[in-house]
Amino acid sequence: MAELKLRDINKSFGETHVLHDVNLDIIDGEFLVLVGPSGCGKSTLLRLVAGLEDASGGEIYIGDQQVNDVAPKDRAIAMVFQNYALYPHMNIYDNMAFGLKLKKVPRDEIKERVLAAANILGIEDYLQRRPKELSGGQRQRVAVGRAIVRNPAVFLFDEPLSNLDAKLRVQMRSEIKKLHTELKTTMIYVTHDQVEAMTMGDRIVIMKDGYLMQADAPLEIYNRPKNKFVAGFIGSPAMNFLTAKVEATQGITLVGKDFTLNYPEADETKLKAYIDQEVVVGVRPEHLTLEPSGEGIGVTLELSELMGSESYLHAIMGDNKIVARVDASESVNPGDTLTFLPDFENLHFFDAQTEASICN
Ligand SMILES: Nc1ncnc2c1ncn2[C@@H]1O[C@H](COP(=O)(O)OP(=O)(O)O)[C@@H](O)[C@H]1O
Ligand SMILES: [Mg+2]
Repeated sequence: MAELKLRDINKSFGETHVLHDVNLDIIDGEFLVLVGPSGCGKSTLLRLVAGLEDASGGEIYIGDQQVNDVAPKDRAIAMVFQNYALYPHMNIYDNMAFGLKLKKVPRDEIKERVLAAANILGIEDYLQRRPKELSGGQRQRVAVGRAIVRNPAVFLFDEPLSNLDAKLRVQMRSEIKKLHTELKTTMIYVTHDQVEAMTMGDRIVIMKDGYLMQADAPLEIYNRPKNKFVAGFIGSPAMNFLTAKVEATQGITLVGKDFTLNYPEADETKLKAYIDQEVVVGVRPEHLTLEPSGEGIGVTLELSELMGSESYLHAIMGDNKIVARVDASESVNPGDTLTFLPDFENLHFFDAQTEASICN
């Protein structure tokens, strides 16, 4: 049983309240990605689960056992850190075997477990080397190997790929996912990188300032963000935000400082409570189309970034910047006056005060 439950977890360091009423259920065998900006409390939360820090309040359960007072070594948890934390004077075999030796696991069994893990990770040929004789990616595998040999009920990864170059990071991402498919062990993976979160997670938990903002499947987060923070954090280039007043006309009209958008066919039910009020309108760059002229948002093009099959158009509208993702064949130049038309069906609306989503 490796289900993990966090109940009303709070954590303070002195006067600094770092985690606020965190509640989370992680099901057996799940690959959960915890994502949020630097300093939002991700590492602290992992360290609480591992037992490296004590909670100031709340309960942590692994299976049915409350583990708040269980020592880290008795929690059936293995953690992989960003800096790998390998012992420089030991060879790779001993690095991987060390924890098992401390636990007085019989020598033959240690050998069996180290070789099995080395085999899974493709590092059998390096077992006699010292860490400094390995590349960054190989060292990362050793750090993962050291976690595997412990045969934990839960793996915790704290930004394990952030010291690797971009190409290796992409490769290691899929290796860690593969490892999860093979071992089927519960894994919590921490990152500040929203692309890593989207590509790896069965479920993503988004944190901000010590609060959980949303916990959902990647596409659910992308399509139905619960608030403006989540909407802006996930997706690249980020969602555009525009302030507008909602007017009930025939359909809906959105009136901003520098634009008016008419949607005669739009159903007003989701915005009913906001008629004649200001809301924040969110539109992803891929939901803007470039129109020849007429209805839409009039902008001035600042920069066109060619990405290959598509271009990112960075434009100015009044005091706002707005980005559109369009086909690379669109021929436009900096300084051009353009019209962006957002699709009503793909607009997001947020309460201007609470920033909570209005329609999801
Ligand atoms: N041991 C500590 N003492 C005091 N403050 C800490 C300690 N550890 C973390 N913090 C503070 O807690 C907040 C969250 O830190 P952390 O969990 O490391 O964030 P993240 O991993 O998301 O970048 C930060 O403001 C950090 O300065
Ligand atoms: Mg951290």
